[in-house]
Amino acid sequence: MTNGKLMRVTRAVYPGSFDPPTNGHLDVIERAARCFGELVVAIVVNPQKRAPMFSLEEREQMLQASVASLENVRVEHFRGLLADYVRALEADVIVKGLRVVSDFESEMSAALMNRALSDVDTLFLMSDQRYSFVSSSLVKEVFFLGGDVAALVPEPVLRVMAEKRTHLQRR
Ligand code: PNS
Repeated sequence: MTNGKLMRVTRAVYPGSFDPPTNGHLDVIERAARCFGELVVAIVVNPQKRAPMFSLEEREQMLQASVASLENVRVEHFRGLLADYVRALEADVIVKGLRVVSDFESEMSAALMNRALSDVDTLFLMSDQRYSFVSSSLVKEVFFLGGDVAALVPEPVLRVMAEKRTHLQRR
């Protein structure tokens, strides 16, 4: 309490498709969890780009298991505009990860659009350079073609991916 008022912690939202979550995502989550009082990892239900390979339930399960040890982090999902979601959540800031300079171009226009729509700023965190080449789409491609992605995704994600591959092979 300060001057009789409850102090509210800074609430940050880290949005994404997380199809699937990678070690790059987890690295950004861990960094953001150290910077902000509360971090909401927000899964977009229907990514604009293409239908996700992993269902919302699978993505939620993979993320929840991966962030279980981080007590100020929770996993949610949202539909529609990110700007509407962050406003409804009364979030103070949107967090995004940058891997390489080329990420910046699209992220800058998204940040400006989100600020115009919600008045919420986006803060960028540089992900660890070990993960600069790691994206969900590459991880999926390599894994389903038989490559080893164990060093690129959290262990709970690897398990769900293996189940998915077995399920797809049976069809
Ligand atoms: O992990 P991704 O696919 O790069 O995440 C993209 C995401 C979810 C952050 C973006 O697609 C998004 O915000 N979608 C919600 C719809 C929206 O608000 N679109 C306008 C963005 S400026």
